[in-house]
Amino acid sequence: MKIFGLVVCFLCVNFLEASETYKAGVLHLDKDATNYAPFIYEAGKSDVDILVLPSPEPSDIIDNYDEIVESISKAAKESSLYVVAHLYEKARCQNKVEVVESNLVFDREGTVVSVYRKPVSNLANCTSSPSELVTFTTDFGVTFGLLMDEDIVLRNVEYMKGLKNFVMTGAGDGSFLSASQFSTSWAFVNNVNLISSNGIYISKSGLQTGSGSLVVADLNKNGGSEFSSAPVTRPSNFPSEDLSQYMVKPLDMEASTLGYKDTVCHRSFCCEFNIKTSAGSKSDVPYGLAAFDGVRPYSTRHNIGAQTCAVFACAGLYKRSCGLGSNNSTNIIFERISVAANFTKQNAQYPIIQSTSVLPTENFKFDAKPHGISTQVTLEIVDGQNLLKFGVFGRDFSKDFESFAVESSNSDSTYNIYDLIFNEDVQEFFDYVWIRLRILLVVVSIYVLEMM
Ligand SMILES: *[C@@H]1O[C@H](CO)[C@@H](O)[C@H](O)[C@H]1NC(C)=O
Ligand SMILES: *[C@@H]1O[C@H](CO)[C@@H](O)[C@H](O)[C@H]1NC(C)=O
Ligand SMILES: *[C@@H]1O[C@H](CO)[C@@H](O)[C@H](O)[C@H]1NC(C)=O
Ligand SMILES: *[C@@H]1O[C@H](CO)[C@@H](O)[C@H](O)[C@H]1NC(C)=O
Repeated sequence: MKIFGLVVCFLCVNFLEASETYKAGVLHLDKDATNYAPFIYEAGKSDVDILVLPSPEPSDIIDNYDEIVESISKAAKESSLYVVAHLYEKARCQNKVEVVESNLVFDREGTVVSVYRKPVSNLANCTSSPSELVTFTTDFGVTFGLLMDEDIVLRNVEYMKGLKNFVMTGAGDGSFLSASQFSTSWAFVNNVNLISSNGIYISKSGLQTGSGSLVVADLNKNGGSEFSSAPVTRPSNFPSEDLSQYMVKPLDMEASTLGYKDTVCHRSFCCEFNIKTSAGSKSDVPYGLAAFDGVRPYSTRHNIGAQTCAVFACAGLYKRSCGLGSNNSTNIIFERISVAANFTKQNAQYPIIQSTSVLPTENFKFDAKPHGISTQVTLEIVDGQNLLKFGVFGRDFSKDFESFAVESSNSDSTYNIYDLIFNEDVQEFFDYVWIRLRILLVVVSIYVLEMM
């Protein structure tokens, strides 16, 4: 009787679990792998409910589209799982050929149940991106939002309709936000599961790791996670962010060992930094405190509205040097560092932290609360080591349709002969350094004039 009870209870626990979670899988394969069928069978053996295939490179336009779709369909059916594939195909229309990228969702019967297509070029006439979020509902009772490439950055979170599970495919496009960095923060802030061709991001607990080509995770159907971990990512060796339009001020290393507060404003958007470094810290790399409010290029195809406050480790006191890669480290220890700003309400803000060191969850705090016409956002960490980037990236969806204008750092209207002497490299200096340089120049030139 006792044993029977145990078995029943085991079954009931199993049943409860089965109704609360589902199993997702992604593949980490070599870029040139194209035959996914063996991996789909492997995932089937691991009881995966939904498998997201790797995304090919945009240059991998396939001519045997139908053949590949058929082979995925067959494997999905024989393994009885949902498969999401991302393919590039040539679509013929009006006697022209357009390249189209497609997200295809296959159900357990191998039937394509959802398609999300968009043209690769902005100039395409035959296909247009759907304005509504594409969704599909599975037999395990979860409705997924289907996303591609930059959608998580471009689409307003309001379109997400309160969904808790998303599938994302696509290569990403080498923009200033690396895919893994932004995915981690996006899943964290929205407290949702994101199954992407790059990995599985579990709500507040971050990227699921695993060895081997198949990585699986049990996900809560309603999002959320048992534990939370700070959304820290390792710096990528991506092209570094273009800071030329940012207002950048050098961090005062001397003052920061005592603890100091500084404010950097771009237009009327102000970021307040509170910094205390440990006394033993030697300044090997300079840090820049930065603010940005406006429209900036995001990828080759899109401009986005953004409000950003950030601290960057740089190789020198000029903007182009900020964006150190994964091979860099600093021996500066931030005993405490925080940034606070009033962001435009109804937009989304994300903590961005790049470090090569581990940051315990209890050392991290991110807070966004509505206050009047704005959202007060504070990001704070204690005992931050090897910090290469730290800040809050805010999306300002209302400005997405404005065009991007390069602002000259020479904002005074009077004609300034000294600007002619200097090329753009000089204007790349941190703003406050540049202002000091200009004052110095004026003094020198007055001196020179008087000598004549
Ligand atoms: C789309 O249509 C416009 C105007 O009809 C034409 O100029 C353009 O070349 C077309 N683009 C493509 C990719 O066919
Ligand atoms: C960062 O790492 C690169 C590659 O290892 C190296 O060339 C560069 O000097 C490093 N920069 C700093 C500031 O440490
Ligand atoms: C980083 O270091 C590794 C090994 O030390 C090297 O192979 C790689 O090219 C370096 N990356 C960069 C961007 O310098
Ligand atoms: C945000 O607004 C509040 C209330 O108006 C103000 O007290 C605070 O100083 C502002 N914060 C920043 C960083 O500007």
